[in-house]
Amino acid sequence: MANTIAAAGVSCPVVLNGVGISKMWQHQGAPTLITCSTTATGAVELSRLVNTGCKLVGCGSAVPSLRVSNNDLAKIVDTNDEWISVRTGIRHRRVLSGKENLTDLAIEAAWKALEMADVPPEDVDLILMCSSTGDDRFGSAPVIQKALGCKRNPLAFDITAACSGFLLGLFSASCYIKAGGFKNVLVIGADAVSRFIDWTDRGSCILFGDAAGAVLVQACDIGEDGLFGFDLHSDGDGKRHLISTFKENETDDASHENHSVTSFPPKCSSYSYLQMNGKEIFKFAVRVVPQSIEAALEKAGLDGSNNFDWLLLHQANQRIIDGIATRLEVPSERVISNLANYGNTSAASIPLALDEAVRDGKVQPGHVIAAAGFGAGLTWASAIFRWG
Ligand SMILES: CC(C)(COP(=O)(O)OP(=O)(O)OC[C@H]1O[C@@H](n2cnc3c(N)ncnc32)[C@H](O)[C@@H]1OP(=O)(O)O)[C@@H](O)C(=O)NCCC(=O)NCCS
Repeated sequence: MANTIAAAGVSCPVVLNGVGISKMWQHQGAPTLITCSTTATGAVELSRLVNTGCKLVGCGSAVPSLRVSNNDLAKIVDTNDEWISVRTGIRHRRVLSGKENLTDLAIEAAWKALEMADVPPEDVDLILMCSSTGDDRFGSAPVIQKALGCKRNPLAFDITAACSGFLLGLFSASCYIKAGGFKNVLVIGADAVSRFIDWTDRGSCILFGDAAGAVLVQACDIGEDGLFGFDLHSDGDGKRHLISTFKENETDDASHENHSVTSFPPKCSSYSYLQMNGKEIFKFAVRVVPQSIEAALEKAGLDGSNNFDWLLLHQANQRIIDGIATRLEVPSERVISNLANYGNTSAASIPLALDEAVRDGKVQPGHVIAAAGFGAGLTWASAIFRWG
């Protein structure tokens, strides 16, 4: 018998046989169609979905040792501490230097998350490295897998979605667990935007820092499910407001047009510095994020600003964070913010702030967090989840 049911959250089409469905989806919101069937395979798939939830059981983070203050920046561009702190809330940022690299930061953050969760690396079956500025453009996740000593060679790959990357990784982890049977998924957000900054551009160089953060997402009984709702978007129209594009070697342009072998092999090209229209990004974030969080809360069945404990936004600018909190009517005591010390660390910002808040004892097991990431792409994503 073919059938459909209304379900929500993870939009993976799956084969079900129809037992216990309403219980399974009871705390989830907007409808996604799921096909039901009575085949034997369907029964197996159903039991996996009915019984599987996922929860966050560990977190960790790591930052480079070099700390750059606003006054340090004032020595290289025409700016000052007051302008930066009033307009952004940022006072310091960490920047990779010397022999440090991003993969090592990601490994350290992942280790700490595994340690907190008390899960050995052998038990990890998926590693998602969310980064747009990795050490290797073909991806760093498999190297992290080896360095952690994951002997069973779990699947490991990179996800590129700039400042929304970590939440898209979290969503992917929930799909892999709920529909794919994975048990322990490491989601790492790590970025070194300093590599693509024009350090003579005072409009952008003051904003960014480097860091890594990680969480371990674990399969659990559906009754303990702690990932309640997501809302995910992208809009390529706004891409021009925040870019770091592949730069053709200009001297080769004419010969390339002729498609001639004399222009082969091509000369080594590179990526341009980050270019940003700060005002447009500011307006975009304050416009879309409140709507997105409200949509995620609705999907989680938790509408209203009093139904979660903490607002945890991508740490881009304190004025953006304050603007979104005001629209959502969340008082500042319930807003997590650490960008004064780190600036905008792109995909690392949410897990880095979460890790600090957990280790400081602010975020306690059972607390519900409304999180949102936004940035280049443009992409934006919200997630409602429980810690622990
Ligand atoms: C970048 C940002 C801080 C600029 O703040 P702003 O209030 O929009 O400032 P403006 O760009 O309008 O600049 C105002 C003035 O300050 C100057 N200014 C810009 N950067 C400056 C700096 N670092 N120090 C001193 N003056 C600066 C400008 O040149 C301009 O001067 P003018 O009025 O003489 O032309 C702000 O737009 C922002 O944070 N946007 C979001 C960016 C972001 O979060 N990107 C990443 C998203 S993932």
